Amino acid sequence: MPASPPLRVAILISGRGSNMASLIEAAREPGYPAKIALVLSNRPQAAGLATAAAAGIPTASLRQRDFPDRDAFDAEIGRVLAAHAIDLVCLAGFMRILTPGLVEAWRGRMLNIHPSLLPLYKGLDTHERALAAGDAEHGCTVHFVVPELDSGPVVAQARVPILPGDDADSLAARVLGAEHALYPKALAEVAASLGPKSVP
Ligand code: GRF
Repeated sequence: MPASPPLRVAILISGRGSNMASLIEAAREPGYPAKIALVLSNRPQAAGLATAAAAGIPTASLRQRDFPDRDAFDAEIGRVLAAHAIDLVCLAGFMRILTPGLVEAWRGRMLNIHPSLLPLYKGLDTHERALAAGDAEHGCTVHFVVPELDSGPVVAQARVPILPGDDADSLAARVLGAEHALYPKALAEVAASLGPKSVP
């Protein structure tokens, strides 16, 4: 049987896009089960957009303020994803909470990476909170997105030690290194288990 074509993936970003870059890099490998077909940002000035464009990936940006409300904004995100025939969405530093309607439309086909060992430290400032708790280790999680923030089924996790003398910056850098290895592996696993979103 011939190998299935790679799934078409959109990466949603808001900023520097280092996880996005690690996914783009991984997807260049022959046999990787996903193709990065779109990078979409909610901030036109996001540095990651330039990185994606330089890699030859189609990009789009949409600003909330150009839409009357969150439902209209998320409906447009859905239209852009459909227009690019996207099969699977990866949130990578996308700093908006999506509406339940959009999340439900992509249930089982939308991933996020979060910088903690979920269910610990949902939300922001995860490195500060792990340090304040005196934890011995910290890490990152790739999970399916559900309407409740940082709460969907876990696909994969990576652990890093918290070392004496760590501050939030040194810990964030260690976790980010782990994120860059984890997300491409998790995406490959999920993409390999799915078929196209809709048969044309
Ligand atoms: C990462 O720490 C990720 O876990 C979190 O937002 C950050 C995005 O960083 N969701 P980058 O834009 O991928 O560099």
